Amino acid sequence: MLIALCSAKGAPGVTTSGLGLALSWPRSVVLAELDPAGGDVLAGYGRGEVPAGGLADLELAARRGGLARHLETRLLRLDGEGQRRLLPGLADPAIARHVNWDRLATVLASVEDGAVDVVADCGRLRAEHFPAAVVHRAAAVVLVTGSTLRAVRAGTQAIAELREKDGRAGVLAGLVVGPGEPYGEREIGEALGVAVIGSLPRDPKSAAVLSDGAPAGRLFAQSALLRAARTVAARLVEFAAAHESRLTPPPATSVLASETTVGGGRVR
Ligand SMILES: Nc1ncnc2c1ncn2[C@@H]1O[C@H](COP(=O)(O)OP(=O)(O)OP(=O)(O)O)[C@@H](O)[C@H]1O
Ligand SMILES: [Mg+2]
Repeated sequence: MLIALCSAKGAPGVTTSGLGLALSWPRSVVLAELDPAGGDVLAGYGRGEVPAGGLADLELAARRGGLARHLETRLLRLDGEGQRRLLPGLADPAIARHVNWDRLATVLASVEDGAVDVVADCGRLRAEHFPAAVVHRAAAVVLVTGSTLRAVRAGTQAIAELREKDGRAGVLAGLVVGPGEPYGEREIGEALGVAVIGSLPRDPKSAAVLSDGAPAGRLFAQSALLRAARTVAARLVEFAAAHESRLTPPPATSVLASETTVGGGRVR
């Protein structure tokens, strides 16, 4: 299943939330950094690791065909088992206009015949070269938003635009970062007119581990942010699966991984 995360404006924490979710995902998953403004995970969580492979390299290789095969070799492990992997984003945003999002979306929608989910960080909705094709193919499209009046207003407008462009209102959902500032999930869901899948608390210390590679303490995996991420990830899998099964008949066999190793892994 392909799950697209995006934001209206501001920096509500799409990348941080996406990484937190990928590290907490209950099945095999790839975090694909598709933000046309550039990837952040290697520089942040990866502590400045030299970008090897990644989206730009994949795009070049795919011009000779065989995108699905090339994808496999461009992924980096986020955990020891390789159940969670990363497609690093663009180091140079100028490349974004050369990326064939449509071709990429097709491949990301069925990685390993659907045995591997993809959480795609698509960045800001109105950005130039926004990966609209990826949003269009996604089983769930999640608007990540803050809970201030300003954020919710921008989010409401963004959802209306998404509806207009895409029409598949059922796949839209909200994810609140920092609820209660002042609005809660229920009020935000009503304002957006979509289901709110859950929320991730403000947890600056744990967020800094994910966004900037701050040292992860012993209790990182049990932090408020990672605990909430596990809940949200499980709900998101359910939500996306329910919508995908409405679009496509269920596969003959389902490959479900049961391990959930959270927090300890670093980008290798
Ligand atoms: N749950 C959270 N609690 C506290 N701080 C957070 C949380 N999520 C993200 N942040 C912080 O917010 C800042 C922006 O996060 P992030 O880069 O993930 O946002 P973004 O929406 O991806 O931004 P951009 O549009 O620039 O890509 C970072 O400093 C990050 O540590
Ligand atoms: Mg980001």
